[in-house]
Amino acid sequence: MSNSPQPKVIEPIRRAFPALKAQAWHYKLHPYYTKQPSNVVGEYIRHFCPEGGLVVDPFCGSGVTGIEALANKRRTLCIDLEPLATFITRMGLAPFDKDAFWEAYRQVEQEIKPVMEFVRKASPQELEKYNLIEWYPRGVKLPSNADREYVEELFGRTQLISLAHLHSAINKVDHPQAKEFLFFVFSGILSRANITYHIDPKHAGGGESGIFMVFRYWVPPHPDYRDVWKLFQTRARLVAAAKEKGDKFYGDFSKEQNIFQVHCDTAENLGKYVAPGTVDYIYTDPPYGAHIAYLDLSTMWHAWLGMDVAPEMRAREAIENGDQQFDEKHYLEVLQNSFEAMFKALKEDAWLSLVFHHKETNLWYNIRDMMRYIGFKYVNTVAQPLAKQTFHKVKNPLRVLGESLIVNFQKSASRKIMEPMTLPMASVIKNSAERAIYSRSGATTEEILREVVPELFEANLILDAASKNMGDILGILAEDFDQDNNGQWQIREGRKVGNFIPPKDRIKYYLINYLRREGKANFDNIVTTVLPLLVNGHRLTQQDISDVLNEIAVSYDGVHWELRERDRLQGVMPLLGERDAFEPGIPSSTHHNQQIYKLALLAEKAGLSIYIGKQERSDPMLARLKPLPHLNLQSSPEDMKRIEQIDIMWAQPDGTPLWAFEIEESTTILSALERFRALLMAAPQIGINRRLVILAPRSRRRKLQQELTSSSYIGHPLFMENKLNYMYFEDLELGFSRLSRQFSMRAEEIRSLCQLPPPK
Ligand SMILES: C[S@@+](CC[C@H](N)C(=O)[O-])C[C@H]1O[C@@H](n2cnc3c(N)ncnc32)[C@H](O)[C@@H]1O
Repeated sequence: MSNSPQPKVIEPIRRAFPALKAQAWHYKLHPYYTKQPSNVVGEYIRHFCPEGGLVVDPFCGSGVTGIEALANKRRTLCIDLEPLATFITRMGLAPFDKDAFWEAYRQVEQEIKPVMEFVRKASPQELEKYNLIEWYPRGVKLPSNADREYVEELFGRTQLISLAHLHSAINKVDHPQAKEFLFFVFSGILSRANITYHIDPKHAGGGESGIFMVFRYWVPPHPDYRDVWKLFQTRARLVAAAKEKGDKFYGDFSKEQNIFQVHCDTAENLGKYVAPGTVDYIYTDPPYGAHIAYLDLSTMWHAWLGMDVAPEMRAREAIENGDQQFDEKHYLEVLQNSFEAMFKALKEDAWLSLVFHHKETNLWYNIRDMMRYIGFKYVNTVAQPLAKQTFHKVKNPLRVLGESLIVNFQKSASRKIMEPMTLPMASVIKNSAERAIYSRSGATTEEILREVVPELFEANLILDAASKNMGDILGILAEDFDQDNNGQWQIREGRKVGNFIPPKDRIKYYLINYLRREGKANFDNIVTTVLPLLVNGHRLTQQDISDVLNEIAVSYDGVHWELRERDRLQGVMPLLGERDAFEPGIPSSTHHNQQIYKLALLAEKAGLSIYIGKQERSDPMLARLKPLPHLNLQSSPEDMKRIEQIDIMWAQPDGTPLWAFEIEESTTILSALERFRALLMAAPQIGINRRLVILAPRSRRRKLQQELTSSSYIGHPLFMENKLNYMYFEDLELGFSRLSRQFSMRAEEIRSLCQLPPPK
């Protein structure tokens, strides 16, 4: 037996943490559009990254991930495309010299005092006549959806004069670090020192900038004109106090070399800054669709801080719409490149936590598929509120959860296509509701939703759920539960617990999910994980678990259990009829390659490996399926070239071909026959039982047969007519739909979609 230490197995995080956003010492350093609750980020970092390890956030925004990494003694690398974001992040991480800062502050205060006294007293006419020679951004266009055309129009005259003088005074500071921090303070007041700022009775702090309310330069009817110096004074204190606290949190750790890096670049270029396989953990919160156009929205800050954004950078922003009018394809392409770079950078088995916003549920399937193709293993989802929630009358049940989920993935060396198992939505809702109620002796709607949402997500039902409104969900609950006088749901009297999903299926569902995640586990761990997930109204016992375990898993050492190959690969459980069963979506590509893709999914379901033609594997959709690189065949170089062009082969893991498929949409089948001939010479056994398949539209049936019969492949020596099978696109379409819903399939079941060549 080997004595090498077992790598530490990290359990997923399964619960939400109370989001204490505003309490963080760094919360008020600088405003930013969407900040992650730092205590939650801290929990994830401590859990998923060892001390001293490297935490990366390639969409870092205001740098919450970086700050939490340093504060928890982890190194960090942060990237953002936006100069403002990287500035905020850098200043959050950089060391702070308090004395130099306050000395520089006093210098600025002295310099600006006379101007401030003048603007406070001056009449509108005097302000108008004032000859402002200090620099301020002139002629910088705001985004097209702004209420003003140019940056300078965002300021009242007093504000503009004050800001221009303040900017000039800071510029005169000699101490480079103090100067940067004063510009950081300056930048921090900009959102209040302009005409988008107003008093909002609904806002707890009283005032808010239109920029942060509606994510565009919206000018409210009654702007609130704040005194620029007072804003500066207050923020300088806030920044200094926060930085002093930060230095305490970072301690001596921050003085070590190369402890943090911040880069203004696209996340796609992560590989420029880290070697492959060196990152311990990624926590990231990328933009979602068309919600916020970050670069557009930061125009005012970039203009004042002299930050240029090159057109090549603008072209890489991961958003939809915006002034660049990006489409969804662009958005997904940038995300995909970025996640591929993250995959490369991560260590083997390392984790990636992705913040996902409910609002953009329609993107979920694209992102889930993308992650899966890249090689990430989906592990679990936590409904994590971003801020303290008030549970008002909400229209959409998903909204109550603060519009945020944390989806956890793991980098896996042996990539397998795994579909989540599917159950009917109402059953999933009732089942998790029952669990919530049972474990608490009554549960509120909110408590139930907190259990329901991650389960819907994992059961692939989130899109359906997003289209439901609160009434639908309450209606489903009301079918089997009653609300008591305290507004808590209770199990209806006289009702047996635990029958929304048959107990055995339920055990299977949790067991398969658990073993897929863990790979192997001993019986004690299995029981302690799975039993609590099963409502025990049916008195499910260890014996029940053991029975199901024997059915779906094997133990080679008598201690650890692992799934049988079939169940490891696939898990679409046709429970309670096929009505709601899941059929994997086929990504967009050419029709030809989509057929290959379907056949590849079926191969995986049958537990076989795939070999994809040399030409086809340049399609990223197919490349991501990680086909076998080589075939286990001996052949002449010319014939090998032909064989390698066969569209797709099903093979044993060692590359021995078992089935071969050629897709012929409109061209003659002669080249397909030539490739099959080459294959038959090298692997004659593939001809037995017609495992050479031509796929074509049914309309070409007759034509193909003519081509075959008039070719030289008929009769001696190959007798191709006895070795060939036909499959029509229409049959693959229907068959795929059926087979992909099955729990697993035998390779031979593909015959049910084939037709013998029609007689001459
Ligand atoms: C949701 S925000 C991140 C907020 C961050 N979690 C925080 O707590 O402040 C998304 C960020 O992605 C950035 N971004 C957009 N496209 C990018 C790209 N291609 N590469 C890197 N960052 C990008 C935006 O500038 C924005 O700061």
